[in-house]
Amino acid sequence: MSEQNKIPPPPNAHEKIEKNVGLLIGLVAIAVSFGGLAEIVPLMYQAEAIEPLPGVEPYPALELAGRDIYVREGCANCHTQMIRTLRFESERYGHYSLAGESVYDRPHLWGSKRTGPDLARVGGRYSDDWHRVHLIDPRAVVPESNMPSFPWLADTPVDGRAVSRNMRQLQRLGDPYSDEEIADAAGVVAGRTELDAVVAYLQGLGLHAPTVGAAATTSMEAAQ
Ligand code: HEC
Repeated sequence: MSEQNKIPPPPNAHEKIEKNVGLLIGLVAIAVSFGGLAEIVPLMYQAEAIEPLPGVEPYPALELAGRDIYVREGCANCHTQMIRTLRFESERYGHYSLAGESVYDRPHLWGSKRTGPDLARVGGRYSDDWHRVHLIDPRAVVPESNMPSFPWLADTPVDGRAVSRNMRQLQRLGDPYSDEEIADAAGVVAGRTELDAVVAYLQGLGLHAPTVGAAATTSMEAAQ
């Protein structure tokens, strides 16, 4: 053996890490989470992601109730509320979705699965009566539809106490509901059915959206 081989290699930080699985896992986790934090944390402070667009307000009581029913019934399993920045999307649905539209959506209902059309801009596209008939029996207005019927919505009253509890919770999270609005919520929805609430919610969707691209949608509709 030569003299050289007897000299131990100089201590090397890499070797220490590579021979210690626990340390390696810990350091990999730290390195990866830096990447994640660098992407996520700036968004939490970016005005365009946390400030509502002009005209975007917290949902009024009946629409908020409708939104909860929309979540409960799983409408988001088939419908997105997120128009992507692709030309064929904005020609069909209107201006692509902006973060400032979803500031009061907790949780957001952007979705990624479209069995049915995107609903981000459906407000005002049909009459209230169309929505009522469609929700109770979709085939009555769209014969080829495979959307399920939701007839029970018409017979179920809105739970006013749940609406005011929900508003109170959103107020705690920072949504600008006034105490009067919360106190009045149960009265506002009294006597209304879940169907009324879902229709009110649908008719409010996208009403405060930017209008650029609306011309393209209109000409598409005219061509149909
Ligand atoms: C199993 C999938 C599915 C579920 C769940 C579903 N839908 Fe649909 N929806 C569709 C399909 C498919 C269409 C297109 C055919 C039609 O208009 O019925 C549609 C169409 C619509 C439209 C018309 C959109 C447009 O621009 O023409 C509205 C509004 C709507 N759905 C609301 C709802 C609501 C509210 C719920 C929950 C209560 C719901 N949908 C649940 C599949 C679904």
